[in-house]
Amino acid sequence: MAAKPKENFIKIEDDDGGYNLDMFCIPRHYEDAIENVIIPHGLIQDRTERLARDIVKDNGDGHMVVLCVLKGGYKFCADLLDFIKALNRNSETSLQLRVDFIRVKSYENASVENDQSTGEITVLGGDNLSSVEGKKILIVEDIVDTGRTMSKLLKLVHSYKPASVKVVSLLVKRTERSSGYRPDYIGFEVPDKFLVGYALDYNEFFRDLNHVCVINEAGKKKFAI
Ligand code: HPA
Ligand code: MG
Repeated sequence: MAAKPKENFIKIEDDDGGYNLDMFCIPRHYEDAIENVIIPHGLIQDRTERLARDIVKDNGDGHMVVLCVLKGGYKFCADLLDFIKALNRNSETSLQLRVDFIRVKSYENASVENDQSTGEITVLGGDNLSSVEGKKILIVEDIVDTGRTMSKLLKLVHSYKPASVKVVSLLVKRTERSSGYRPDYIGFEVPDKFLVGYALDYNEFFRDLNHVCVINEAGKKKFAI
């Protein structure tokens, strides 16, 4: 029987109250909309640096096609690639990257809440997915919540016959709604709260916030659609 794998993420506990907003620099327009800072920007950077190292170690000398899942994945993807680039220019081996950007839309999304999605997916943008054939693919995502969107995206990408597919997600939510799907690389496992910042949005707001934060009820009201 295979040994139980070691935890490969930073776990943020359910009762972690995060950091007081007053300890950080928060844009005025979000000050009253945030409960706490749950992952400061600097910690995101430090964890991302290590994820970059793990990815380079596992995929070594070779090349990968990075599929950045927009919009939420754009900051994490840009920072992750910067760290991989730094490793590449300072070592004997290197991981050559090509980058593409896709958007994944979930449909059958009749729920009133903005915070959930179910049903089938549609991939928008990016080159024709047939260009992934025979390539090593790295999908870069901001957050895996139920895991259903990623499972569907993986099914779709696999249908184009890539050589391999790995997924790196900055965040994975601990939720009863999880399908059980786990990415290959995980930055942080987070409580089942609605998170914003570092490109994660609530109704398209909060992408312009550096830290990952917990939105509060006032924020949900203020930025409701
Ligand atoms: N924040 C932003 N987007 C999301 C979340 C979240 O907590 N979960 C799924 N998509
Ligand atoms: Mg996402």
